[in-house]
Amino acid sequence: MPGTILCVNIDHIATLRQARGEYEPDPVEGAMICENNGADGITVHLREDRRHIQDNDVFALRDVVRGKFNLEMAMSDDIIEVAKRVVPDQITLVPEKRAELTTEGGLDVAKNISRIRDVIKVFHDLNVLVSLFIEPDVDIVSASKDAGADFIEIHTGRYCNAVEAEDVKRELERMTHAAEYACNAGLRVNAGHGLKFNNVVPVLSLAGLEELNIGHSIISNAVFMGLPEAVRKMKKIILDNSPGI
Ligand code: PXP
Repeated sequence: MPGTILCVNIDHIATLRQARGEYEPDPVEGAMICENNGADGITVHLREDRRHIQDNDVFALRDVVRGKFNLEMAMSDDIIEVAKRVVPDQITLVPEKRAELTTEGGLDVAKNISRIRDVIKVFHDLNVLVSLFIEPDVDIVSASKDAGADFIEIHTGRYCNAVEAEDVKRELERMTHAAEYACNAGLRVNAGHGLKFNNVVPVLSLAGLEELNIGHSIISNAVFMGLPEAVRKMKKIILDNSPGI
């Protein structure tokens, strides 16, 4: 397998723009800077409340992104309609609660399996890959396989939030086990949420890890070090520490 790819989530470039309701900073320009500095793809989350990324951004990004274009989305009818017109390379289905600050938990695949199956069929008919954002739990991985997903995206949030060494170790073990189980089941593996320069390396050892989706920390670091340098630094950490290369 080639090394793990980096898809930069640029939602928070749009967050800054929306804070003023003006036109800068422009996520499209941000995407080009990310790709010119080592990003292998671009990820955005079109949220139901449109708090950051807008429909226009998604269409404009579809035209400029040269690498993988991954659209994170909830399974609501209006978002599905936008995604069907955009035809990204991949959609990542996420749960969404309007009041949350960010995506707080993974999808409950078993509970929503028939809806997920239907949505997967719609996007497979458009040749769009489908990834399910899930907690690292073998039963949920297994349900994702049953649903017909191409990828799981392992939610790394609990690992990233763990403080005590034993909690970090336990969360890494859960992710390791889930990734191995997914590979054996024929699912492809992505991961993301809460990853930073100082916690990403252990995640790179997950079996079959193809893609990391990293947003908030890259954009935060960009405020001080500039976006090109923040992307280059994350990309170098991934390249230097990916066992697959
Ligand atoms: N993956 C998914 C499915 C997400 O919802 C998010 C946050 O939008 C990310 C990855 C990126 O998380 P972060 O911004 O914490 O890097």
